[in-house]
Amino acid sequence: MTDEVTPTVLVVDFGAQYAQLIARRVREAHVYSEIVPHTITAAEVADRAPAAIILSGGPKSVNVEGAPRLDPAIYDLGVPVLGICYGAQLVALQLGGEVAGTGKGEYGRTRLEVTNPGVLLHEYPPATHDVWMSHFDSIVAAPDGFTVTARTADVPAAAFEDADRRLFAVQFHPEVHHTPQGQAILERFLYEGAGCSPSWTMRSIIDQSVEAIRAQIGDEKVICGLSGGVDSAVAAALVHKAVGAQLTCVFVDTGLMRKDEGDQVVETFRRHQGIELVHVRAADRFFERLAGVVDPEEKRKTIGELFIRVFEEAAGGLSDARFLVQGTLYPDVIESGTPDAAKIKSHHNVGGLPEDMDFELVEPLRALFKDEVREVGRELGLPDEIVWRQPFPGPGLGVRIIGEVTPERVAILQHADAVVRDEIKAAGLEREIWQAFAVLPDIRSVGVMGDERTYAYPIIVRAVTSEDAMTADWARLPYDVLERISSRVINEVRGVNRVAYDITSKPPGTIEWE
Ligand code: XMP
Repeated sequence: MTDEVTPTVLVVDFGAQYAQLIARRVREAHVYSEIVPHTITAAEVADRAPAAIILSGGPKSVNVEGAPRLDPAIYDLGVPVLGICYGAQLVALQLGGEVAGTGKGEYGRTRLEVTNPGVLLHEYPPATHDVWMSHFDSIVAAPDGFTVTARTADVPAAAFEDADRRLFAVQFHPEVHHTPQGQAILERFLYEGAGCSPSWTMRSIIDQSVEAIRAQIGDEKVICGLSGGVDSAVAAALVHKAVGAQLTCVFVDTGLMRKDEGDQVVETFRRHQGIELVHVRAADRFFERLAGVVDPEEKRKTIGELFIRVFEEAAGGLSDARFLVQGTLYPDVIESGTPDAAKIKSHHNVGGLPEDMDFELVEPLRALFKDEVREVGRELGLPDEIVWRQPFPGPGLGVRIIGEVTPERVAILQHADAVVRDEIKAAGLEREIWQAFAVLPDIRSVGVMGDERTYAYPIIVRAVTSEDAMTADWARLPYDVLERISSRVINEVRGVNRVAYDITSKPPGTIEWE
């Protein structure tokens, strides 16, 4: 996907939480973008011949010692540059303007006065509009040759540009939704300032991806482990589109999937997509191995190790395969910090596949963000249930059962979990909730149903909102939804006599219970 013909905007990361957001906004404008470290040299930039460069914000003051800088020779490459926030201050400082600590920062919504529209702001004739600011230092003078295009009450040069050299800078954050004209301003930079065309579309992503996969695999055989999750599903569908019957998928049914999920995977891939699928029914082996295991770490280890064993056995039967498909996404690549080291992301998979497996990796989603993966999946005809599937831990329901994992206890949890998801879906809350599921603890308590005293398990309902699972808040589910879940679980799931709702955020809790 990163082949030379794709015009690329490089987003130089100065340590802000905004770099990823900028990259995504650029892609929303249908221009391909990648994040690069701020240590990138002019020679490296020249080598990549980007369509434009965007300098992100950053947490430091440009005036403190050791604050990150851009290789100044980059400004002379003739590549269009947009500096944002810290990036704007760098443009000012490195090209001869002035950045000062005026003692007055600006944070949050701020009035921007357009004084001289220029290229970036020409849709906004002298007027004011709202922008989002987050800075302490102030650009008091733009460098020679630049025209100041906007100011705020505290920043004399809040936007400035040298259209001839195609260098632009804005102190505010166009990438956040709190700047209502932000996306339009970014697009002006991309289309008018830098001359990019909006050619990076879903179709072009798929076409290029298919081409790259064909080039890599040739006429060799390739295998792909399906987890039921969106990443491996979309990766498999893409590879299948590229090399058809050269692909064999392996689906290990651990017995720890959610209700009917195994069948759905088989139905989708074998019947609808026509993919060669090895369906390994391994539930008995997992239950046998899990008997008596109650320690959470040991449980994970047991599931992970057996998964590898079973997968290897299945893959061993496909010994002529040279390639293994991996659903690595762009955020995994950025976070690992070593974009070129193709490593299997162990903690994201069921226990991880062994690194000594003798396969070459095919990673067709390496350049994509999650929302883009979903779009590709939809375009390739995968059903909504897979494309919009909530994150599900590799070890499956094994990490949502406290205490021993037995077939009976898994059946109780599957049933209760299906009710929870069903009611969340019926209430139309599916997409705004990050994850909603049921947990089975290893306590029982007394209740009364009809005339009978019961001694049964409670089910704990967990529903959270989150952006990235790093932090999460418990979802404020409407009482009537909670009530329907509760009464259905108690009426329909034998062995359960109470429903509790978990109101812990993360931190201090985790999303999963185990
Ligand atoms: P926690 O429980 O740590 O979970 O707050 C954060 C996110 O990670 C998912 N999760 C896993 N995903 N293998 C996975 O593929 C795992 O072992 C695993 N454990 C937790 C969890 O569902 C949540 O989205």
